[in-house]
Order: sequence, then C-alpha cells, then structure tokens
Amino acid sequence: MLARNFILWLSTKPRVTKALAQRGMNHGFARRFVAGETLDETLAACGPLCAQGRSISLNHLGENVASEAAARKVASGYIQMLNQLHVRNLPGNISIKLTQLGLVQNKTLCSELTREIAARARGLGRTIEIDMEGSVYTDVTLEIFAAVQRESQNVGLAIQAYLLRSETDLKRLEALKPKIRLVKGAYHEPKEVAYQQKSEVDANFKRLTTLLMEGAARETFFPAIGSHDPVMAAHTQAEAQRLKVSKDKYEFQMLYGIRRDLQERVFKDGNRVQVYVSFGTDWCPWFMRRLAERPANCWFVLRSLVAEGK
Ligand code: FDA
Repeated sequence: MLARNFILWLSTKPRVTKALAQRGMNHGFARRFVAGETLDETLAACGPLCAQGRSISLNHLGENVASEAAARKVASGYIQMLNQLHVRNLPGNISIKLTQLGLVQNKTLCSELTREIAARARGLGRTIEIDMEGSVYTDVTLEIFAAVQRESQNVGLAIQAYLLRSETDLKRLEALKPKIRLVKGAYHEPKEVAYQQKSEVDANFKRLTTLLMEGAARETFFPAIGSHDPVMAAHTQAEAQRLKVSKDKYEFQMLYGIRRDLQERVFKDGNRVQVYVSFGTDWCPWFMRRLAERPANCWFVLRSLVAEGK
C-alpha cells in the first residue's frame, strides 16, 4: 500500500513524469503497456490481436484538458479513431474520459461532444465506452452517460467496485440496458466513499459481477468484466454457468500488455475479449498508475533501463 501511494504521488509530479517520458519509449519499457504514440502505430500494433478475434477499445492518453478548444480537438481525434477503425474494418470501439472532453471547464460542452461522438459511432454501427474517473466526477459522469445512452443506445460505462455507492448506481442504471465495464477502481479515494481493503474491494467486485450476470440473464445488462484477477475471471465463469448466460452475452476486458497469459487463457476458453488500448504522447501518468497497481512492475522498468545501458 505504501509503495502504491508513493508511486501515485510521484505520478502527480511533472518533473518525475517528464524525466520518465523522455526515456520511456526510447528504452522500450513503456511499449509493454502503451501501444504507440500515434494512431497509425497503435492500430498496426493491434493488428495481430484483432486478427485473432479480439476487439480493441482505443483510448487517447491525457486527462483534464486546459481549454474548450483542446476539448474539441480531443473529440475530433476520437471521431477520427472511429473512422479509422471503420475504414480498416477492425473490431472495436473507443473509450473516453469526460475530463478530456472539457468536463471541468464546461459541462454542457462536454455533454454535447459526448453526444456527437456517440452519434458518429452509431452511424458507423459502433459503440463508445465512458471511463469512470475520480469520485468527484461520479455523479456528473452518470448524468451525462444516462442522457447520451437514452439518445444513442450505444454507450457503455465503467463502474468501480471500490466505491460504496456502486451497487445502488448499478440498480438505477439497469433500466438503460447498458454495457457496464466493472473495474476495481484506479484512483486514491477516502474511506467515506470507498472500500480501503483489497479483500473488501474483491468481495464487492464479486457481488457486483453476480448482479450484472443476473442482469445479463434478463438481458438488461451486458457485463464487461474489466480485471486481470484470475479469481474474478473464475467467479464470472462460474456465475455464467450457474445463471445459464451464454458466452456472447458478456465479455472480459483487460489492459493492453497486462496479464497476457490470463487474457490468452480466457480467450482460448471461447470467451469474448476486449483489450483496452491506450496510446499517445501523454502516457506517463497513466503508465505510473499501472506501476502503482503492481509495484513489481517497477522492476520490469528498471530491468529495461539496465539492459539498455549495457
Ligand atoms: P488487481 O489489482 O487485484 O490485480 C490482480 C492481478 O492482476 C495481480 O495479481 C497481477 O497479476 C495482475 N495485475 C493487475 N494490475 C497489473 C499491472 N498494472 N501490471 C501487471 N499485472 C497486473 N479504473 C478506473 O478507475 N476507471 C476506469 O474507467 C477503468 N477502466 C479500465 C478498463 C479496463 C479494461 C481494465 C482492465 C481496467 C480499468 N481500470 C479502470 C483499472 C482498474 O480499476 C484497476 O485499477 C486495474 O485493472 C487493476 O485491478 P485488477 O482488477 O486487474 O486486479
């Protein structure tokens, strides 16, 4: 826990992230988790995954844009990603963060941009997914998600198992028949809003998986289990069997480059797998959150640097 908090703290320090960013792609260690810096490079890196039958969800790295103009630019970038997925006939969608679309500067603009992106995706027969960020944004994210999903019917949403409120949120969302990506939660949250112990988060993840799978049996949810934890994967498969939910009614989601062994295993078991693919030049804070999730990854980074130095 100490190591996690320390790395999360470092990830907010521009001097650290800048120094790491200057070395990361050159030394190769970031490539394990970040598919590329440009869209072309990223889609090329994802080709083999797609050819095998996995779908991808593209996310352009960067959070909290500083201006409305920047938010509009991010939105047109997402529309370009959808177009490129379509032109190249690749299975997949996009994952957006509302703070990248100007949520902090102008909620109305953010909502409009999200609607535009969802409408474009719908026109191409595709979907979009909305990431869940820190808990100060939960209410507004749910509000924008609900409005756009009502209109477009092609929007998925991430829900975090560490939040105390998530069960209530899910019950409310069921009427919208959404795709829900269940994740444990990646931000540093206080005990007033979030479970602090891993065992509590894991127990809630299982409870919410069951709730989603029961919804899948009624065709009110499309569960997307976003985790690299084999225990959560096993629980999902057991619930699918118990509730007689067929494999086309839910999916597993994992981050690009993480637990590739588990990803391979669930895919070979005949499950749908969607890989969340982050790309862009602003990859450092994201990369550091991945390190914080598993401080052992720091050794992987250090080994890459040492190997390069030889
Ligand atoms: P957990 O952290 O318990 O780890 C289980 C096992 O997975 C570990 O023992 C290890 O083997 C492996 N593992 C986990 N992280 C690893 C890493 N970084 N490197 C190597 N191995 C690792 N969060 C959020 O707040 N909002 C969001 O919108 C999203 N979106 C999202 C999409 C997708 C597709 C995924 C998979 C995850 C997210 N997350 C997220 C992140 C999520 O909240 C969580 O922080 C991570 O997935 C880590 O939790 P796990 O469930 O993987 O298990």
